[in-house]
Amino acid sequence: MSLFKDMLRNDESLFVNAVALDYDYMPKEIKYRENEQHYMASCIKPLLQKRNGRNLFICGAPGIGKTVACRHVLQDLEDESDEVIPIYINCWQKNTSYKILIEICSLLGYKLTHNKKTDELFNVVKGIINKKSAVFVFDEADKLEDYDFLYMILEEIYRKAIFCITNSRDWVAGLEDRIRSRLMPELLEFRPYNANETEGILKERIKMAFERGVWEDDAVEIAVEKTCEIEDIRTGLYLLRESGNVAEDRSSRKVSAADVENAVKRLPEFSSKKSSDIEDDESKMVLDVVKKGQGKRIGELFEDYKAAGGNSVYKTFQRKITKLDKDGFVVTEKIPGGKEGNTTIVKYKDVTKKLTEF
Ligand SMILES: Nc1ncnc2c1ncn2[C@@H]1O[C@H](COP(=O)(O)OP(=O)(O)O)[C@@H](O)[C@H]1O
Ligand SMILES: [Mg+2]
Repeated sequence: MSLFKDMLRNDESLFVNAVALDYDYMPKEIKYRENEQHYMASCIKPLLQKRNGRNLFICGAPGIGKTVACRHVLQDLEDESDEVIPIYINCWQKNTSYKILIEICSLLGYKLTHNKKTDELFNVVKGIINKKSAVFVFDEADKLEDYDFLYMILEEIYRKAIFCITNSRDWVAGLEDRIRSRLMPELLEFRPYNANETEGILKERIKMAFERGVWEDDAVEIAVEKTCEIEDIRTGLYLLRESGNVAEDRSSRKVSAADVENAVKRLPEFSSKKSSDIEDDESKMVLDVVKKGQGKRIGELFEDYKAAGGNSVYKTFQRKITKLDKDGFVVTEKIPGGKEGNTTIVKYKDVTKKLTEF
């Protein structure tokens, strides 16, 4: 058996620069988001004139350029000025005040964080930033577990612009009053890309990532079509990479329409799960409760579940929800504040619809 005989050699790869398909790759220009970037810049601009900046709440569906556009603005700012410190934090990874302040210290080049408590760390940050001014971007802010750091920044950093990015529009409404009334953000909503824009973005990436001419025209067409359907460029980039891999797996020097079709089948988003695919009755019942109680808190749903005759304890119920979330049948969203502290909202996701329509 010669498993490796027909493989393309290294110098025959279809990819020239696969990095250009990475999610965090930053293209030189973020096309089709010029207005959004100008708006962000206009909120930062007062800082360059030694005045206070404006706060922004940026929202929109996943995979439509919120993060990349914002990072691009910060990059431009960094090239332009030393007076405004750009601070970008992904709150999915750094989801507590302590972790965020450690990260800010690290971005500011301050290393003596060992054994310091949250408020001591904040004092360090304040001491450094208040000599200048700063733009804070808190991306995926709906993943935050506490908001003390935000309160401290709002109260004690003199000149700043704070941008919070989330997929859901409801996030601001769920904030505690003490934060919301101080943050008072303007709204910048990203709309999904249209077909032309999606095509423009994907073709640009194909040009950067692949050898010239390896993509057949109808293959590009299908990749664009599928990405438009799902309205998520991140999935589109994944599709480009997978299509290339599928073509290489059959030692082809071209990416054909059939390769893209095969790659599409590997996308979880297109595997069109139906609720009839759920095997165990208990999970079906939980899903049913979520469907009827659309958007309720998890605690309330548990009550509904018991009322409907469910026997599992709360922990098990929670685990079922987590599994349904992972399998794409429901979406969960952490909501901070409220009298019971943090809670989780659960929504039913009609998987026959597109991902972004829930
Ligand atoms: N206008 C654009 N030009 C080039 N690439 C883009 C554009 N919009 C989105 N992308 C790419 O699509 C992917 C998803 O974008 P991202 O900003 O992470 O989405 P979001 O933050 O809205 O979920 C990233 O890899 C990004 O580089
Ligand atoms: Mg993002």
